[in-house]
Amino acid sequence: MSSSPTLTIRAATPDDAFAGALLLNSTQEPHFHTGAVRLAGSFQETPDRYAVAETGGRVSGLGTLWFPEFHPTHAWVGLHLHPDQRAGGVAGALLEHLAGRARAAGRERLWASVREDYLPAWPDLPALGFREVHRTFGGGFHLAGWEAGTDRLEAALAGQGYLLTPAADFRGDGRLTDLYARTRGEKVSAEPTIPPAAETLTKGDGLWDMAWLAWHGQNLVGIALPERSRLDAWNAVLVVHPGHRQRGVATALLARVARSVQAGEMTFLNVAGSARDVAYLGVLRRLGANIEPDWIAWERGA
Ligand SMILES: CC(C)(COP(=O)(O)OP(=O)(O)OC[C@H]1O[C@@H](n2cnc3c(N)ncnc32)[C@H](O)[C@@H]1OP(=O)(O)O)[C@@H](O)C(=O)NCCC(=O)NCCS
Repeated sequence: MSSSPTLTIRAATPDDAFAGALLLNSTQEPHFHTGAVRLAGSFQETPDRYAVAETGGRVSGLGTLWFPEFHPTHAWVGLHLHPDQRAGGVAGALLEHLAGRARAAGRERLWASVREDYLPAWPDLPALGFREVHRTFGGGFHLAGWEAGTDRLEAALAGQGYLLTPAADFRGDGRLTDLYARTRGEKVSAEPTIPPAAETLTKGDGLWDMAWLAWHGQNLVGIALPERSRLDAWNAVLVVHPGHRQRGVATALLARVARSVQAGEMTFLNVAGSARDVAYLGVLRRLGANIEPDWIAWERGA
């Protein structure tokens, strides 16, 4: 007859924190069980994309590998270490293994994308030969219950001769294309996360019924147009003529778009950009967008 294993109830200690985090997430978001089931499927279907490190017979790290088509010279790597193993040789050994696979696949560079607040959970990337390439941000407007008081701003703008109108009737107007072409070069890119601005204002998937224009007399001075991003979210293109900036025109335009999207019963308007894009970030913050911590891109040779 087999005897039951000993059961003990004791006070939780800091040493229990790692297992405790997994147990907490087995009953609440982010759901550990759902994640584990998905991961089991991925390990089975694409074993080349994963490797584990074992230290003393225990799993001490997980390495992940991805060869995205949109970044054909790079292999994207992830180094997910047991907290007790962040220092020491596990990360370096895992990385060399992943680098070997990347070279075999013809990828010359390694790339890691890490959200700033998770950086302490990663190994020391500069010590592993990575250098920081750029920072981007993501986030958006959670539109259920969102509001921004722009009445005073709009009144002040009207007093300076600015008028906001829906954009739909001007869809084919050459003035839109001209304004976009004039400001296109200014859009900050951070490849591959943020590719250079498209050649034309929209690839045909813009929500014109929710788009707004700003005029100063007969002159078109601003556009805000929601369009579908590469990540399949709705983002608003936002452009103000260089001679009409620093007056709140962009803030007023984007507020109108967010309200139109909200009235269309969409609950989220996505935003993304380079952390260098201070003017754009200013508009987003002023209107109460939720801006997540920066994503930091790291690179080294494979
Ligand atoms: C992004 C962009 C639209 C922002 O334009 P902007 O002029 O900075 O934004 P606004 O029209 O809202 O003006 C805000 C500025 O006016 C000032 N301002 C003056 N009166 C104001 C008022 N009543 N209300 C709000 N802001 C006011 C603000 O303080 C702010 O200045 P600050 O940034 O020095 O603090 C513009 O830089 C642009 O067209 N860039 C090129 C295209 C691009 O990169 N777009 C972003 C990604 S799609």
